[in-house]
Amino acid sequence: MSTLWHNLRLINQPDVDAIVSDGASIVWVGEQTAAPDCDQTVDLGNAWVTPGFIDCHTHVVFGGERAHEFDLRLQGKSYAEIAASGGGIASTMQATRQSDEQTLYKLARRRIEQLIADGVTTIEIKSGYGLDELSETKMLRVIRQLGEDLPVTILSTALLAHSLPPEYADDQAGYVHWVCQMLPKLHKEGLIDAVDAFCEHLAFSPEQVAQIFDCAGRLYLPVKLHAEQLSLQGGAQVAARFHALSADHLEYLDEAGVIAMAKAGTVAVLLPGAFYFLRETQYPPVNLLRRYQVPIAIASDCNPGTSPVLSLRLMMNMACTLFRLTPSEALAGVTTNAAKALGLQNTHGQIAPGFCADMIAWQVDDPAEICYWLGGQLPHQRIYQGELDAS
Ligand code: NIG
Ligand code: FE
Repeated sequence: MSTLWHNLRLINQPDVDAIVSDGASIVWVGEQTAAPDCDQTVDLGNAWVTPGFIDCHTHVVFGGERAHEFDLRLQGKSYAEIAASGGGIASTMQATRQSDEQTLYKLARRRIEQLIADGVTTIEIKSGYGLDELSETKMLRVIRQLGEDLPVTILSTALLAHSLPPEYADDQAGYVHWVCQMLPKLHKEGLIDAVDAFCEHLAFSPEQVAQIFDCAGRLYLPVKLHAEQLSLQGGAQVAARFHALSADHLEYLDEAGVIAMAKAGTVAVLLPGAFYFLRETQYPPVNLLRRYQVPIAIASDCNPGTSPVLSLRLMMNMACTLFRLTPSEALAGVTTNAAKALGLQNTHGQIAPGFCADMIAWQVDDPAEICYWLGGQLPHQRIYQGELDAS
């Protein structure tokens, strides 16, 4: 079924007022007077149309919540202190292990529906709160099921090296070895699209991350990394060495890391929700990223400990207000650059022939309003794989 979407505006393309999709793909973009014949026509009411938004870093599948830690941090405890006293990722791991598949599915589905309502059409979701075979597999199955059921494209990332589980207390090397044994199994079951790790003093060292990335490489799986979030560890260089799709967080990233990422084509994923929620004072080096032309993406990092965020538009706003991105950089951060952070740059994140027909028609006067309004929901129509959502 082909559709002519018309009476619309595209940012930076003043001559375009029509798009044609055929099935799930865009096949033509241009002036309506020159448009090919289509099976149906949809008037978008002179709306500004953007690609569907891509949330390229989330942890939306988890059991429980960590509101009490929010309270502790307001009393002055740091994220690292809370983690050291048994809270943090370990507490979500317990809650996730104790939740059955159906419960995890229901909770995550509700969170994803919120993201969808705010303009998202593609989401990456990480495992990493199970940290044993049964529970990591459970999380990854839930991720796959959500992808089958919901009108959103979901990519699944194995984040086994998120934290050291109690079974391996004092045996980091043993755990890394176990992770390397698990990856081929999970991959064989078709459960993973990429591999991630947390490179930090309270998680895994650059050498351990390199070991895990070696295993991922043998499976031809792309890698990405939580790097330089709480301290400078040199994770960005490891990510670059393995041609990681992205290095994420990056508050403590230095110039050498930026240069390495630029050479490798690794995307910098900024997560202003975690920056804000942890009351971080170290800013990611946005000017260096610009100077060396490292593509910048923005994501929600939706997770119970550091970023309980259910709006990607709010993250665009925070990327502008906190990190001084321009609205057009913020838009690229959730479209073209977010697609690249997932290896989807040839199919997603742009409105052009050959790309997926995932689009949002925003009823706003100025496209900058998409990241100007804080919270709430802007009136919009959502087109997913060439079909208009019923509203
Ligand atoms: O992206 N940095 C590590 N992982 C998550 C936080 C996980 C948690 O505290 O539950 C993040 O911020
Ligand atoms: Fe994260």
